[in-house]
Amino acid sequence: MRGIILSGGAATRLRPCTKVTSKQLLPVYNRPMIYYPLNTLIKAGIKEILIIVSPERAGDYLNLLGSGKDFGVKFTYEIQDKPGGLAEAFIIGENFIDEEDVTMILGDNIFEDDFTDEIKNFKKGGKVFAKEVHDPERFGVVKFDKNMKVIEIKEKPQEWVSSHALTGLYIFDQRVVEIAKNLQPSPRGELEITDIQNWYLQKGELDMAMVKGDWIDAGTFDSLLEAQNLAKNKLQDKLII
Ligand code: DAU
Repeated sequence: MRGIILSGGAATRLRPCTKVTSKQLLPVYNRPMIYYPLNTLIKAGIKEILIIVSPERAGDYLNLLGSGKDFGVKFTYEIQDKPGGLAEAFIIGENFIDEEDVTMILGDNIFEDDFTDEIKNFKKGGKVFAKEVHDPERFGVVKFDKNMKVIEIKEKPQEWVSSHALTGLYIFDQRVVEIAKNLQPSPRGELEITDIQNWYLQKGELDMAMVKGDWIDAGTFDSLLEAQNLAKNKLQDKLII
């Protein structure tokens, strides 16, 4: 299993704080934000991690994280020239993924859960993780039946579809690279992660599990504040880095 942290993007919602640095390097209590998703991957036993960053901030990431030796893992870096969408990560990561399965986590997603078993037991297809939220219009959402079988996935729906958001942690088999390469950009000009999920869904190969503990997408000022409190009050003894 290979790991990817997607940590690019322009983070315009957090201006002016992100004018001279990357959102995922902002402090979340006592660590840079990216340490939390990094911790999720490393704790789950992933040893090879690709960090995708924007060209402007690449040097900062190298200075902060280095080779990975300090964390007992190996880091590879790639530049995403422009924020072309989450699914573009699998095109950028083609050589890195090679013939392996891949877990991708977003650099601003902070989880309380431990995903070790989910990642170790992954066999084939795609796996996504849902969490009930009060503001589903901010997220990709998932509708499912009482057996947790996925029925529908939609990116930021304007009309209510479901109160369950799809969190920013995804496990896919190596087919994801070819799937991403064949996607067309959405009306907002991005290669959408939901299109990849829908590809697996149509093949009947998309599995879903619930996130049990807290989860925060720290992409707004309010959610960043929530993340600070979560980190201070609940996450300190779960961090190994
Ligand atoms: O947090 C979970 C949500 O993440 C999912 O529910 C949505 O389905 C998914 O599209 C995504 O929604 P966001 O609105 O949070 O996406 P955002 O554009 O903020 O990007 C998420 C992270 O990925 C953010 O830290 C920046 C980074 N990013 C984003 C894009 C579009 C990149 O590094 N490159 C990109 O091209």
